[in-house]
Amino acid sequence: MRQGPVAFIGGGNMASAILGGLIRQGAAPSSFIVVEPHEAQRARLKAELGIDSLPQAEAQALRAAARVVWAVKPQTFAEAAAACGGALAQATQLSIMAGVRCAAIAAATGATRIVRAMPNTPALIGRGIAGLYAEPAVPASERESAAALLAPTGSVVWVHAEADLDAVTALSGSGPAYVFYFLEAMVEAGAAMGLDGRQARRLAQETFAGAAALAMQSDDALATLRERVTSKGGTTHAAITSMEAAGLKAAIVRALQAARDRAEALGR
Ligand SMILES: NC(=O)c1ccc[n+]([C@@H]2O[C@H](COP(=O)([O-])OP(=O)(O)OC[C@H]3O[C@@H](n4cnc5c(N)ncnc54)[C@H](OP(=O)(O)O)[C@@H]3O)[C@@H](O)[C@H]2O)c1
Repeated sequence: MRQGPVAFIGGGNMASAILGGLIRQGAAPSSFIVVEPHEAQRARLKAELGIDSLPQAEAQALRAAARVVWAVKPQTFAEAAAACGGALAQATQLSIMAGVRCAAIAAATGATRIVRAMPNTPALIGRGIAGLYAEPAVPASERESAAALLAPTGSVVWVHAEADLDAVTALSGSGPAYVFYFLEAMVEAGAAMGLDGRQARRLAQETFAGAAALAMQSDDALATLRERVTSKGGTTHAAITSMEAAGLKAAIVRALQAARDRAEALGR
C-alpha cells in the first residue's frame, strides 16, 4: 500500500477534531495535507497543529496521497471531487459525509477502495462512536488504517452492508439529539417540581452519564438493569408505568425508523 500523506478535503470541525487528535497522539504534521477554502481556517490549522493546507485542490500535491478523508458537507462533495480531477483515484477514500453513497464516491473520484464512516457529534470531544463500512475492494490493512484515522474521535463499529449505515445514522448519528431531548424533558420536570434549573440540569446529565457507564460495565440485559432499580409499587415503577401507558418506547422505535427512512431517501 502507498505510504504518501493523508489528504483531508475540508478542514472544518470534524477534520480539525480528527487532525488535532492524531497530532496529539504523535503523528507528524507533514503526514497530512488539507484542502480548505477559508483562509482563517487554514491559518488556524497551521498555527494550532502545524499542518499545511491549500485553498483549492492541486492535483500535483494530491496525487501523492495514499489516503483521502472526505470531510466536506455532502452538498459540496460533487464540486470538491471535480476540483481534484481524478488525482485521488489511486488513494483509499475515507468518507465521513452523511448520506453520500460509495457508488457516488466511486463515480466522482474513480477510486475503488472506499470506506464510509458515520460519526456523531461527541467525536468533537473524542467521545463519539462511528459506524464504518468498507467496500469489498478495501484490503484489511486499509480498513485498519481507516479505523486508526478515526481513533481520536472515539470508538468504531464495523457494519457488513452499506445500507446498515442508514440505521447507524438513525441510532448513533442522530442519537445525541434524542439524548438532549430526554435531558430537556427531565430538566423541565425537575424545574416544575421546584428544583433550581442548574441543579436539575446537573442531576439529569450526571444520571445519564452514570447510567450509561453502568450499562457499559455490565453484561446484564438492559431490561435486567432497569428491573433491578424498579421495585414494584415504588417511585421508579410509577414513572415507568406512566411511560409505558403513554407508549413512549414504541414512539422511540418509530422515531428511529423515521430517521432511517430519511437517511435512505437523502442517500438517493
Ligand atoms: N459535525 C459532526 O458532528 C458530524 C457528525 C457526523 C457526520 N458529519 C459529517 O462530516 C462532514 C463535515 O462536517 P463538519 O461539521 O466538519 O463541517 P464543516 O465544519 O462545515 O467543515 C467542512 C469544511 O469544508 C469546506 N469546504 C467546502 N467546499 C470545499 C471544497 N470544494 N474543497 C475543500 N473544502 C471545502 C467548508 O467550507 P464552507 O463552510 O465554505 O462550505 C468547511 O470549512 C459533513 O459531511 C457531515 O455530514 C459531521
